[in-house]
Amino acid sequence: MKIPPPKRHTSQIGFTRDAQASQILNAYIAQAAQGEDTNTFGVYVALVVGQVTKKFGRKAAVDNASFTVAKPAMIGIIGRSGAGKSTFLRMMNRLTDASSGRILFKGRDILQLDGSARRAWQSDCTMIFQQFNLVPRMDVCSNVLHGLLNKRSTLSTLFNTYPTEDIHRAVDILDRLGIADQAAKRTEALSGGQQQRVAIARALMQDAEIILADEPIASLDPMNAQIVMDAPRRIHEKDGRMVIANLHTLDTARRYCDRVIGMRDGRIVFDGTPEQLTTGVARDIYGAKADFSEEATSTEIGAIARYKAAEQLIREAEAEAG
Ligand SMILES: Nc1ncnc2c1ncn2[C@@H]1O[C@H](COP(=O)(O)OP(=O)(O)O)[C@@H](O)[C@H]1O
Ligand SMILES: [Mg+2]
Repeated sequence: MKIPPPKRHTSQIGFTRDAQASQILNAYIAQAAQGEDTNTFGVYVALVVGQVTKKFGRKAAVDNASFTVAKPAMIGIIGRSGAGKSTFLRMMNRLTDASSGRILFKGRDILQLDGSARRAWQSDCTMIFQQFNLVPRMDVCSNVLHGLLNKRSTLSTLFNTYPTEDIHRAVDILDRLGIADQAAKRTEALSGGQQQRVAIARALMQDAEIILADEPIASLDPMNAQIVMDAPRRIHEKDGRMVIANLHTLDTARRYCDRVIGMRDGRIVFDGTPEQLTTGVARDIYGAKADFSEEATSTEIGAIARYKAAEQLIREAEAEAG
């Protein structure tokens, strides 16, 4: 499947290096701190991350991270292992508490949510993991229906009864991901790539406002990686949902994301478009030496693309040589 080039958002708000953006960020944080509506600048701001820090002991896993997102976008977070990517997503999803800072989603102060409000946020903000986090012995369809867990009564969950329309919707979603024929199978019988598609289906079933994905394709083959990345890209384009994905490869970030955030030692060291993410910038983000090779962070999809490009060059050279 050919992926159309992503639509770029024209608004420049959201670039931490932009002085005006940081001014707006501070104003939003001040407004939100006073419990005011944060939508008064005439610009709709979806997400404000303001000076968020997470410390483990004395070490800051995330160190004073700030950025704003004007409109729902598909955002990739890159950086070497230990840069703080997972910790950041875990704070957004409230799996772990921040040490300081604020996160506002559509004006909601999400780090302050407690009890049922926190659980409601967690169902509005779904998380996809590298290890799928499915119930292996349960059938595929029930795993997808589990996406509704936070929205259903304990009783119906206990007896595992779902309204027919929910089951139809689950199968529809599985169909879109090309695995409807697996719906009745035990999840553990599926391949890794198929299981990640089930995890995506569960996230879609949840109909969340924001999809977080923590290295969702790190253990997948190229074909499954593409299917798994295409799904949130489409959700973003069609339903205007925000997606934030930690990605272990540069080429995936460049290919699928409107915007890329680079983290190094807990800090945001890059925030820009895929075009601005040059090899030199990437080298800085990864803290690599001059012999840095993008191949090291490339998935096989990228390798195949380069292989095809090389083949094409050879063909052209051959044609020229007659
Ligand atoms: N639960 C924890 N306890 C102590 N240190 C942690 C914990 N989770 C993460 N860290 C540390 O925080 C830093 C960032 O980790 P992480 O967010 O997992 O990075 P990434 O996802 O970019 O690989 C690392 O130095 C890691 O060792
Ligand atoms: Mg991680």
